[in-house]
Amino acid sequence: MLIATNIHIEMGKTPILKGVNFTAAAGQVTAIVGPNGSGKTTLLKAMTGELSYEGQVSIDGQDVAQIPAQVLAARRAVLSQSAGLAFPFTVLEVVRLGLLAGLDAADETLPNRALDYVGLSGFEGRFYHALSGGEQQRCQLARVLVQVWEPIRDGTASWLFLDEPVSALDIGHQLDVMTIARQFADAGGSVVVVMHDLNLTAMFADSVLLMKDGKALVQDDPATVLNADHLSYAYNCNVRVNTAPQATDKIPFVLPQMASQK
Ligand SMILES: Nc1ncnc2c1ncn2[C@@H]1O[C@H](COP(=O)(O)OP(=O)(O)O)[C@@H](O)[C@H]1O
Ligand SMILES: [Mg+2]
Repeated sequence: MLIATNIHIEMGKTPILKGVNFTAAAGQVTAIVGPNGSGKTTLLKAMTGELSYEGQVSIDGQDVAQIPAQVLAARRAVLSQSAGLAFPFTVLEVVRLGLLAGLDAADETLPNRALDYVGLSGFEGRFYHALSGGEQQRCQLARVLVQVWEPIRDGTASWLFLDEPVSALDIGHQLDVMTIARQFADAGGSVVVVMHDLNLTAMFADSVLLMKDGKALVQDDPATVLNADHLSYAYNCNVRVNTAPQATDKIPFVLPQMASQK
């Protein structure tokens, strides 16, 4: 279990996160949604130790600030929103960076298996810079998967933190990547994922945090969080939420509405 309690972050003198509470459990996909600039990436960076914060983040009862970096690297991998590269690495070299950070450095088969899993078999020798945005995104996903390949190790869950992992993907690859996240959670790992697409969120998340203006509005299951009142308020637009009449799973779907359609 990850518990973030009363997280405050200021940049300059500007408050960016204003007392955010958040939880994520092993075996679940937990999504963070909210409008541009609401603080999703900042919250993720607090939880992954990239930004200092006031408040507390604990995993399985241990304050993450007290866990040594190499222990965390073996249990937690992070896919950033924008992953620039300073060097002309090939796809395989990028994925191998994950191998070096994790516990399976000796298993040279992993990078190729991960590339196959994200649909990039045959791309090993291509230069990362020459890939499309969506291919780069899947290459980076392969890197983080290689880092924490086992969703559970010695009875302890591994953690994937993904910041908008499907933002550059077509709908087919969006489904592929969300299915990978789902499988990781179903195998006992934990996935914390920042999402823009509310319909994919409804399909794949067990729990959703909705943010606005650096605050957590609500965290609960998707059907509770993704209702028209919450979404209209958070996104400042008209929204209609339905479930397909024939659907047995009652997954909500979200449609933005022009003001004239209200
Ligand atoms: N390095 C920074 N310096 C100043 N303000 C920042 C910095 N990074 C982010 N912000 C601001 O913090 C707010 C939240 O940003 P972010 O967490 O990236 O939003 P989101 O991921 O929800 O779109 C935004 O208003 C953004 O402009
Ligand atoms: Mg962001």
